[in-house]
Amino acid sequence: MENAKLTLNGQEYEFPVIVGSESEIGIDFTSLRAKTKAIAFDPGYGNTGSCESAITYIDGEQGILRYRGYPIEQIAALASFTEVCYLLIYGHLPQHDQLREFERQITHHTLIHEDMKKALDAYPSTAHPMAILAAMVISLSGYYHEADDADTINLNIIRLLAKMPTIAAFSYKHSMGHPYIYPRNDLSYTANFLNMMFNLPTMDYHVPDVLERALNLLLILHADHEQNCSTSTVRMVGSSRAGLFASIGSGVCALWGPLHGGANQEVIEMLEMIRDDGGNYRKYVDMAKDKNSDFRLMGFGHRVYRNFDPRARILKTSADEVLDALGVDDPLLDIAKNLEAVALEDPYFVERKLYPNVDFYSGIIYRAMGIPTNMFTVMFAIGRLPGWIAQWKEMRQDKHTRIARPRQIYTGEQERPFVPIFQR
Ligand code: ACO
Repeated sequence: MENAKLTLNGQEYEFPVIVGSESEIGIDFTSLRAKTKAIAFDPGYGNTGSCESAITYIDGEQGILRYRGYPIEQIAALASFTEVCYLLIYGHLPQHDQLREFERQITHHTLIHEDMKKALDAYPSTAHPMAILAAMVISLSGYYHEADDADTINLNIIRLLAKMPTIAAFSYKHSMGHPYIYPRNDLSYTANFLNMMFNLPTMDYHVPDVLERALNLLLILHADHEQNCSTSTVRMVGSSRAGLFASIGSGVCALWGPLHGGANQEVIEMLEMIRDDGGNYRKYVDMAKDKNSDFRLMGFGHRVYRNFDPRARILKTSADEVLDALGVDDPLLDIAKNLEAVALEDPYFVERKLYPNVDFYSGIIYRAMGIPTNMFTVMFAIGRLPGWIAQWKEMRQDKHTRIARPRQIYTGEQERPFVPIFQR
C-alpha cells in the first residue's frame, strides 16, 4: 500500500502504512515527531494503535469478536474456560494431553500462602472485594519470586490462574464472616470456584451443573477484548518491566471503574432503581439523553462496537436459559429487556449506535447464580485474567516494545519569575 502523506506548514511528509491480517489499516507514526516536531493528539486513544497483536480480533461495525481466529459464538458453545485460557496464552488450542497437564498444574497451585490469609483477615468486612483482589494480586509478588526467565514466568502464569479464584472466593467469605473453604483438586476450575464461594463446613454442597455451565460461558465471554482500558493498563505497567503480578493487579484496578468492568454492578443497581421507582423506563432513557444529567444507561454503548456487542447477544439468550434452569423469576430481566427495547427505538441511541454491551445481561445471570452484586466485577476479572496474561506475555516477547510514554500538548502558564511570599 502507498505511503500516507501529511502536509504540515506547507511541507509534505510520508509515513508508512501497515496492514493487519484482516485488512485493518494503520499509519505508522513512529517517526512523526522526529520528522515534523508535531505529535499525534488523540485523547482516550480512540484512533491510536498501541501495538500489533495476534490475540483477539474485533470488528466493531460488524459485531465480530474472535479469539486467535475462532469466532466467539463457536468458542462459547463448544469450549471450556481452561481451554480458552490455553488458547489465548499459548496461541493455539491444546491437544488433549496438553489440556489435562495444564489443568493439573493449575489445580495444584490453587492454595494461597497462609500468611496472605492473615492480610485478607485484616480488611474490614465491608471492604469492596475489588480492593482486596487488586491488593492480593500485587501481594503475590511478595510470596512468589518474579524473574524474567521463561520458566519462572510460566510458573507465575499458572500460579496466577490458579490463585485468583481462591483470593476472590476468600474475599467473599471474609465479607460474610464465614470460614474460608479451601480449594479442592477433584473439581473443575469453575466448580472449584463455586464450591469455595457457596459451600460451608456445615453443608453437603454439590455444585449444580447449570451453575458450572453458566460460569464457564460467562468467563469465556470475558476472556479477552484486545486493547481495552484494563488490558492497556496491564501493557502500560508491564512496559516499564514491572512484573506479572504488579501489572495484572493494575489491570484489576482499571477494570473496577464504572465505565469499564464496574458497569456490571452499576447495571443491576440501575435496574433496581428503575424497579423501585415504579418501572418507568422512559424516564431513565430521557435522563440518559439529558446532557445536564450525569446519568448514563449503564451497560449501553461501547468504544469499539457500533453494532450489537456479540457477547451481549449470547448473554441475552443465556439469561433466559439460566434463569429457567434455576427456576428463578427475576423482574429485573424483564426491566432490562423493556429498557433495551425502548432505548433501541429512540433516535438518540439509534443515531449514536448505542447497543447493550457485555455488562448489560451478565449481572442478571450472576444474580440468579447467587453471586452478590459487589462481586460482579471480581467475576469479570477472573474471566479477563487469561487475556491480560496473554497480552502481557505478547508485549514482553515483542522486540518492538518500548516503555509506554505518551506525550501531551501543554496548556499551562508560560515561563514566569517566581516571587517568594516570605523573605528567607
Ligand atoms: N447512555 C447515554 N449516552 C451515552 C451512553 C450511555 N450509556 N454511552 C455513550 N453515550 C453518548 C455520549 O454521551 C456521547 O454523546 P454525544 O456525542 O452527544 O456527546 C456519545 O454517546 C458517544 O459516547 P462517548 O462517551 O464519546 O463514547 P466512548 O467511546 O468514549 O465511551 C463508554 C464508551 C464508556 C462504554 C460509554 O458508552 C459509557 O459510558 N457506557 C456506559 C458504561 C458502560 O456500560 N461501560 C461498560 C463498557 S463495556 C466494558 O468495559 C466491558
